[in-house]
Amino acid sequence: MKQIKTVLIGLGTVNVGVLTILKANKERIAIDYALDFVIVGVADSSGIAINSNGFDYHELIEFKKLKKRVLELPSYLPGVSTEDITNHVEAELLIESSAGNLKTGNPGLQVTRQALRKGWSVVLANKVPLVFAFDELHQLSREYGGSLSFSATVCGGLPVINVLQRDLKLARLKNFKGILNATTNYILNEIDNGGTREDAIREAQRLGAAEADPSYDVNGHDTANKLFIIMKAFTDFSGLISDIPVTGIQHIEVNDIKIAKQKGMTIKLIALAEKDNHQWKLSVKPMEVKKNSFLGTCNGWEMGIELQTDLYESIAMKNYEADPVGTSAAVIRDAMLMVCR
Ligand SMILES: NC(=O)c1ccc[n+]([C@@H]2O[C@H](COP(=O)([O-])OP(=O)(O)OC[C@H]3O[C@@H](n4cnc5c(N)ncnc54)[C@H](OP(=O)(O)O)[C@@H]3O)[C@@H](O)[C@H]2O)c1
Repeated sequence: MKQIKTVLIGLGTVNVGVLTILKANKERIAIDYALDFVIVGVADSSGIAINSNGFDYHELIEFKKLKKRVLELPSYLPGVSTEDITNHVEAELLIESSAGNLKTGNPGLQVTRQALRKGWSVVLANKVPLVFAFDELHQLSREYGGSLSFSATVCGGLPVINVLQRDLKLARLKNFKGILNATTNYILNEIDNGGTREDAIREAQRLGAAEADPSYDVNGHDTANKLFIIMKAFTDFSGLISDIPVTGIQHIEVNDIKIAKQKGMTIKLIALAEKDNHQWKLSVKPMEVKKNSFLGTCNGWEMGIELQTDLYESIAMKNYEADPVGTSAAVIRDAMLMVCR
């Protein structure tokens, strides 16, 4: 049995989901893969706690259900920031699922750097470290012999990154179109069905699918972050996140959807990448697409992508994901792929 000493950054929806899946599948992971994920460190916004014998999955889940904070754990380590947790615990895997901070990048960015400098493997659900420092973090993982996985950052359980990087080897992307944010797709659906944007946002928050600040979903920036990560992971795109013009769905009204419908179209928040004169041109904006097209039929809690490459022609795939379980499962998928490599 190989013990994987693991540190969890963030104990919110995604990482409590990770613990729940690990708990439910502990025996299978042990029997089929001879692995045991031992949680030796945890951090939330109140601080860090260390337990070299391993926290009990169930106790941590129940602890967070009661809305308790890490500083209330007996193994709480006062005075140590999340960014510094790697200096206080022996581990080999860091799972970073803290709330993304687009102003400073931290704690996600700094703790990811620190873990990679120690040669650990890092699995990200938080997109922000990649948006700030995609190239630098990959360089660190090569330099120090760790690894960096991030399929959970894009479309939850839909394996966009893994399919592109693993299954479309040697292919060159010609163009890409996607609905990358289920919350906005659900909001558009609800407006079309006579509901309000505010009620739809509340429902997305209740399900744990919306970003901590749902304006990142609505204004298109979450979609732009995902498009950026996809392009950096699979193409020669060398631009910055600020090179992507972004328009969200904040101004889409029921009348716009009605007018589109009369033409056999529907409105979707589309992430687009096309080559223009050998240069990548990226955008995020609400667009009319044919109602019976592939993306036109991605409704509500569905996300979808369609792309063309030189070797594999056209590929389209979509998922239905009304809660964050798929994202938590994607984190574990990445962790297992990493330790089994
Ligand atoms: N939910 C999804 O469907 C989904 C899908 C894909 C990607 N993601 C990404 O995954 C990450 C986590 O999402 P979530 O839904 O789990 O968010 P969440 O429920 O809001 O949880 C965020 C966690 O981050 C913790 N945190 C905040 N500041 C911290 C700090 N300085 N140090 C350590 N922890 C800190 C919070 O602590 P407290 O518990 O003390 O508040 C909380 O436990 C986000 O970056 C999000 O964008 C989420």
